Amino acid sequence: MTQLTTPRLLPLEELRAQFPGLSPQVASLDGAAGTQVPVAVIDAIADALRTSMANVGGAFVGSQRSGEVVAGARSAIADLVGGVPEGVVLGPNMTTLTFLMADALSQRWGPDDEIVVTSLDHDANVRPWRLAAERAGATVRRADFDVDTGELPVEAIEEVVSDRTRLVAVTAASNAIGTRPDVRAITEVAHRVGALAYVDGVHATAHVPVDMAAWGADFYACSSYKFCGPHTGAVVADPTLLEEIRPAKLVPAPDDVPDRFERGTASFEQLAGVRAAIDWLAGLTDAPGDRRARALAAFTAIEARLQGLLEQLLAGLAGIDGVRVLGAPHRRTPTVSFVIEGHSPPEVARRLAEQGVTVWDGDNYAHELMRRFGLAERGGAVRASIVLYTTAAEIDRLVEAVAALAVNR
Ligand SMILES: Cc1ncc(COP(=O)(O)O)c(C=O)c1O
Repeated sequence: MTQLTTPRLLPLEELRAQFPGLSPQVASLDGAAGTQVPVAVIDAIADALRTSMANVGGAFVGSQRSGEVVAGARSAIADLVGGVPEGVVLGPNMTTLTFLMADALSQRWGPDDEIVVTSLDHDANVRPWRLAAERAGATVRRADFDVDTGELPVEAIEEVVSDRTRLVAVTAASNAIGTRPDVRAITEVAHRVGALAYVDGVHATAHVPVDMAAWGADFYACSSYKFCGPHTGAVVADPTLLEEIRPAKLVPAPDDVPDRFERGTASFEQLAGVRAAIDWLAGLTDAPGDRRARALAAFTAIEARLQGLLEQLLAGLAGIDGVRVLGAPHRRTPTVSFVIEGHSPPEVARRLAEQGVTVWDGDNYAHELMRRFGLAERGGAVRASIVLYTTAAEIDRLVEAVAALAVNR
């Protein structure tokens, strides 16, 4: 996975030209909530609707095409995250899939068992585990990040695991403050005590090269609308692990893996879009190799480009009196939450939107994180996120608008 040189990424203006949803009038700094999609994805979805409006499993060509679309999405996601297609469970989004996995896995938990969650995580990787543990009578232990640094050190996980731990749920990157914990070290701790590691890759997958096998993730969850695809999600696992798990399912529905985890009829047109998004991403550099190699190269280049923009944003915000940036993790995605003294986050987001700068406000569902920052009852924070199509000029616009607001506090 190590790249000796950073591959050359498609020039930014050429890249942006492929996104009809982007406008020069708007500084789009809301990408962590979902990216725009390139024309290639829109076309793939439209083509699927034109040619494959049939369910899978039929004896005719349209149905077979839908089957190919499903297989294509599985194979693309496997290439993106470093899994195998037979282990890719497709579903509407990460939250729904995580509830499903929590329900299925918790059938084997009891009062002697413990589950570990973290306060760095999005609630979609906390609540499903808490609720499932409650039903099973199992205990939930929480590993806390450091509010000063924003780091989640491996020691925080070590403190709460024991030989009773059955599962450790941890994020590969915080969707609120960008922290990238040492996932490899954390999964090692989980495995040492015989627990499974469920890694939330929804935020990370949009920003960094992913290798779920090298990271030791038993489950890796992601959502394609965060990486230029349509609104749909996946959880990837080793098929032999999936074989051991029996989710609730309809009697006539397929019983094999991964199909038995997929409820009802899939959104075939969106799955066509998922594959198109990953193909498109893999084509963003001139790196050679198969799709997996090219996707890794693309994200190596994306990560390098975005770190420069992150530094620009952090330096800009640091220069404004009255602005407090949450956490300062050393290894992070380009996602930054901040508050402006004297202005509530909803007001800031509204005032910025009036000037054509789009950011999110609130807790971004990083519910326990905002509570630990003491901001849950105060409107959370303002989140600016940088993605592969963000420009330096957009960051300048944000920083100038924030500076103007901060002066008037
Ligand atoms: C880190 C993280 N995890 C989980 C989720 C939930 O994903 P989904 O919308 O696919 O359910 C999000 C969504 O913003 C997220 O950012």
